[in-house]
Amino acid sequence: MIDFALTDDHKTVAKLTADVAARHIKPKIADLDRAQKYDPALLDHLKEADLLGICIPEKYGGAGMDYISLGLVCEEMEYIDTSARVIFSVHIGLNSMCIYTWGNEDQKERYLIPQSRGEKIATFGLTEPAAGSDAVGILTTARKDGDLYILNGEKMWISLADVADNFLIFAWTDTDKQKKRDHSGLSAFIVERGYAGLSTGSLHGKLGVRAGNTGYIAMQDVEVPAANLLGKEGEGFKIAMSCLDNGRYTVAAGSTGLIRACMDAGREYCSTRKTFGETLDRHQLIKEMFAEMIYGYDAGRLLWQKAGWEKNRGVRSTRSTSLAKWFCTDQAEKAAYNAVQIHGAYGFSDEYPVERFFRNSKGASIYEGTREMQKLMQADYFLGIRTDRPPRCLLPAWNG
Ligand code: CAA
Repeated sequence: MIDFALTDDHKTVAKLTADVAARHIKPKIADLDRAQKYDPALLDHLKEADLLGICIPEKYGGAGMDYISLGLVCEEMEYIDTSARVIFSVHIGLNSMCIYTWGNEDQKERYLIPQSRGEKIATFGLTEPAAGSDAVGILTTARKDGDLYILNGEKMWISLADVADNFLIFAWTDTDKQKKRDHSGLSAFIVERGYAGLSTGSLHGKLGVRAGNTGYIAMQDVEVPAANLLGKEGEGFKIAMSCLDNGRYTVAAGSTGLIRACMDAGREYCSTRKTFGETLDRHQLIKEMFAEMIYGYDAGRLLWQKAGWEKNRGVRSTRSTSLAKWFCTDQAEKAAYNAVQIHGAYGFSDEYPVERFFRNSKGASIYEGTREMQKLMQADYFLGIRTDRPPRCLLPAWNG
């Protein structure tokens, strides 16, 4: 049975996140965004609040909360700032939850525990300069050499590239299969920053998420111990897709936070601004914009919470997560567009946060699987071309 009521634990974690974000992120975010600067103190605050391993069991250094709690953290964080939520998403959604799902006990000991405790920060490297949606089009290779794999290639648009200690890197271990575009030639590796031959850099001039760190990873003959192969050789594509089931969930939940931020900013502005002898919120066309935001927020929340409910039960949630990601990011873009419109000319300047919300809303319909990829997936499910067959390893059910 589905229960829509949040538990006391859910309410506590949502309030904790809202407090942390209001105290430590909100006062700085406009300046950081303007200066296109990442704030290294952000991760310290999330670590202190014990959020960086929120849905990882205590046994592995986490807080042991459920996947709805993870969504609530994302929503509350993005209510204040998208860049912070992006950073949180890649660390836990795209990396830690993946090691929790696919890692062996040794890998969980060496990587998951320090990441859940916030002692180490992690990211995910699938995208390359010439391959985004077409994940099988990546060029990075991993050649086996005794007890090592030798990695060569470049990753691009990687969140936390210049910050992370650990990277999850996807590479071809079978180049014959690469030529045939057979995904079973791809493998996944845990790579540490200190490994010789690995270098990173940051990208600037982004439209949004300017207070986040986004960059590239270059690998030249990087020697990775065979013990750092995640899952089995050939499982890389499935691992990447299962990571995205978690990452997309955090993006969907975060987007509802952005919609709520747009609604609240719009309401606040309306109460102070008069036109035609009345405050703005008395005009029907302005009310319509609020109605559309409410529609996006409430329906979006139901979609990500359904995906979270499936994750709690330990069933594959690819379809519901993809739909939630598509809908919530679409609605966040529309909400930000309307929030700027409500502010009129003032919405066009960075005097009000809606200008930043507008720029930040765009990225989420591109990163972690474009809107178009989510649409294709939904159509393929309907047409019976795609089904959610459980892979060898599935995100464990929540046993709280
Ligand atoms: N979990 C486990 N296994 C999965 C899976 C999942 N979610 N999705 C697919 N698989 C399995 C399938 O069951 C199938 O297995 P078999 O071959 O044994 O039957 C296999 O993987 C192949 O699956 P599909 O046939 O469904 O794969 P596809 O080729 O149709 O996928 C696609 C196409 C949906 C477009 C996919 O390539 C995709 O999602 N692309 C987008 C990639 C993306 O989102 N990139 C952004 C990364 S973000 C980043 O790198 C930057 C950063 O900092 C965050």
